[in-house]
Amino acid sequence: MFTPKFPHLSSPLRIGNVTLQNRMCAAPTGFPYITADGLVTDDMIAFYELRARGGAAAVTVSEALTHSTGRSHGRVIDLTADGVLQGLTDLARAIRRHGAVASIELNHSGIYAEMDIPKGERDAAALRYGPSVASLPGGRRAAKMTQDMIAEIVKSFGDAAALCKRAGFDMVMIHGGHGWLIEQFLSPAINHRGDEYGGSPKKRARLAIEIIDSVRAAVGPGFPIEFRMSGVENMFRGYNIDDAVAFAALIEDKIDLLHVSAGFGEVNFDMTHPSMFAPHGVNVHLAAAVKKRVRVPVATVGALGEPDMMEEIIASGAADVVCMARALLADPELPRKVVSNRSGEILRCLRCLTCHTERTLTQTRICAVNPIIGRENESRFARPPAAPKRVLVAGGGPSGMTAALTAARRGHKVILCERSDALGGALRAGRDVPFKHASFDFIRNRELMMRLAGVDIMLGVEVTPGLVRSISPDALIVAVGSEHIIPDIPGADGANVFTASELPDVISKLGEAVAVLGGGLAGCESALNLALTGRHATLVEMGPEFAPDANPRHRPILLRILDEDYHIKMRANMRATAVSARGLHADAQRGVRVLFEVDAVIIAAGMKPRLAAADALRSLAPETAFVGDCVSVKNIREAVFRGYHAALDL
Ligand SMILES: Cc1cc2nc3c(=O)[nH]c(=O)nc-3n(C[C@H](O)[C@H](O)[C@H](O)COP(=O)(O)O)c2cc1C
Repeated sequence: MFTPKFPHLSSPLRIGNVTLQNRMCAAPTGFPYITADGLVTDDMIAFYELRARGGAAAVTVSEALTHSTGRSHGRVIDLTADGVLQGLTDLARAIRRHGAVASIELNHSGIYAEMDIPKGERDAAALRYGPSVASLPGGRRAAKMTQDMIAEIVKSFGDAAALCKRAGFDMVMIHGGHGWLIEQFLSPAINHRGDEYGGSPKKRARLAIEIIDSVRAAVGPGFPIEFRMSGVENMFRGYNIDDAVAFAALIEDKIDLLHVSAGFGEVNFDMTHPSMFAPHGVNVHLAAAVKKRVRVPVATVGALGEPDMMEEIIASGAADVVCMARALLADPELPRKVVSNRSGEILRCLRCLTCHTERTLTQTRICAVNPIIGRENESRFARPPAAPKRVLVAGGGPSGMTAALTAARRGHKVILCERSDALGGALRAGRDVPFKHASFDFIRNRELMMRLAGVDIMLGVEVTPGLVRSISPDALIVAVGSEHIIPDIPGADGANVFTASELPDVISKLGEAVAVLGGGLAGCESALNLALTGRHATLVEMGPEFAPDANPRHRPILLRILDEDYHIKMRANMRATAVSARGLHADAQRGVRVLFEVDAVIIAAGMKPRLAAADALRSLAPETAFVGDCVSVKNIREAVFRGYHAALDL
């Protein structure tokens, strides 16, 4: 008999007149492929449908626009646009046909309208409105909303909700958090009005309440309304958790699910989207504080995805529902795996923020570990190959593993050879590093999935031309990776010098003071790793900047932690000249010589493709593909993406 390993997570919950089939919901994760007119696309339908098919109890479509003055991101569904109903209806159907509750988030971005939009797509002349006059980054200003305008916006939420109900949505989410319009009114830091919409907490809550009432009047009793709010604003003069609890008590009778997130938009982005440096479930305490004081079911969100922790959240009564955004980009099937006792198969989110950055930078969607994301529609039509082939993969890093797994899942017979005694390649540097837990776990997951898919994994076997000839595969995928660039300076081969890849093996034996040579992302992360183990790390960088190669969302968080939390010495514009028993010698600008007195030096001066090793495997099989770092050193996202597509090409 089947016994659920996570009984609380697997249990249903009645919300208004719908039933959530389990306690795991897909939080809004704005999908950018929307037409310029704000209409739903087939790609978008496929994106949300995958989440529903993956077993999420409810799937919330992101940030739909209720009023022309409230556009948040470049591409949002415009619920006021002509012809939007057809796509909306297909979208709701695609979610519902998998048993998930179809929900949609209604939003107005207030003073931040037109801000998070790439140049060229932004309406530079657009006026922004909020509770009070506000100065914005870039010297722009927002105007104070008149009461007539407020009434128009309140009505727009009701109209939008009615349209969504007509399209077949089972539920709506009102976005009252993350620093958008409704929170701007709630916030004592932003709302300076002297009329019925400002001043006391009750008056600041008035807009939220009018919007909820407008939506309720439009959708009728029983139709579930979820209200998303931030449990704290965490900014100067912002509201705190006690204020949030008091607000929750004001609205609880009007709604069916209270969704407690955190933070105020760009002011504290990493509170709303906890980075890889934050613990799992870092915002649960906010939901728990609210839940203690209200009867309405409460949802929590933020850095969730670990089944044991999520089970405990529900079992302990800290919250009634757990919501996930990024964890379901990495693995849309996570809820299904949890309820069917296959949690070991979950592919973890790295919290690298690639997904978020790309939306802002390029208006596209991509995930570092899941190459299907952003291409769900196209992936639906992938057919198994006409004839299964014998495929040899040389190299067990992220690209090789992804290629091997994808090829095996498509029905090919795959052998993967890795010359070292362990899989993982460059990801192995994340071993025992707390903030790299998920990328290290990627190795475990891929190994498990490869074995389930029937890949023959051979460790300690280097693919040589002779081996290729003896196996005689139909296709060879070369994924032999990269190697460290070792600076050509005296002492670089000394006993006190290690590469960043070797750091996990030697870290416990290192002395107190360690220099990291190279201030790119790998060097910065090595320095942080050293600091976490109590070492005094000094980062020494030849160029003027640190971590210029990091994702622009991740970089400021990393640099702030290095500086403010760990006080890591960061020395830019320093050219290393030698390593000796005394430490690292460098030249500063204007010829000043410096000695960093350290016990050891970690080299993180960049990687280079193993070109010769890759070239040696050319023209040995009818089909050969070169993937990952051996072509060009990039990141896990590129390695996975290329490995996946090379296997689809077979
Ligand atoms: C790529 C991306 C897009 C997001 N888009 C929205 C959105 O449109 N509306 C919204 O309320 N939250 C949005 N969020 C925030 C998430 O719903 C969620 O609150 C946040 O990511 C924390 O949850 P997580 O740790 O599970 O990712 C987005 C998050 C990400 C990563």
